Amino acid sequence: MIILGARKIVNRIILILFLALISTISPVIAASSQMLPNGYHKWLKSERKVVTDKNSLFYGIHYIYADSKAQRGYKAANKFSEGSRIIVEFFNIKENPSVDGPKNMVVMMQKDKSQKATGGWRFLSFGSDGKPSGLDPVTTCFGCHQKDAAKRDFVISVKNDFKGL
Ligand code: HEC
Repeated sequence: MIILGARKIVNRIILILFLALISTISPVIAASSQMLPNGYHKWLKSERKVVTDKNSLFYGIHYIYADSKAQRGYKAANKFSEGSRIIVEFFNIKENPSVDGPKNMVVMMQKDKSQKATGGWRFLSFGSDGKPSGLDPVTTCFGCHQKDAAKRDFVISVKNDFKGL
């Protein structure tokens, strides 16, 4: 009896430790899936794009970065495989549009079939410091991508936006 009771206590302690471990790890995992990947500046970079229409969300200068899976997706006329990642970096326009002003925003799409409400893409947005800016993917992001690129896997840019692809 005494031995059984001790074993129960040990099992309970193991369970508690296990739950404590899960609860410390899972926010870390959740947070890391919300972070910008390291080294994306080495991905294929688009031409420099300047939007001078102040009414446009894309007002300013931006560059698109595509990882190797996304590059294959662009080459396949915008059919992207699971995990493909595309990032856009935005810069303000100062007086002279030929010079990049300060960075103001970074957005990312990652192909993730679990994201059914947003066409199988995870939409993420970050401030210039790389911290998540918490914009809602469904209401803030997906509308435009659905409207402009429903037939291109919701990716608006195309192969020709990248030199040498
Ligand atoms: C007002 C319309 C609009 C909204 C809202 C919008 N986008 Fe886009 N997005 C565009 C356009 C247009 C492009 C293409 C830019 C180019 O070709 O240079 C684009 C391109 C992108 C790309 C590069 C891949 C692609 O589709 O060409 C990513 C990544 C992206 N947007 C993420 C986001 C995220 C994340 C949000 C929400 C925070 C968002 N977008 C909201 C219009 C929009």
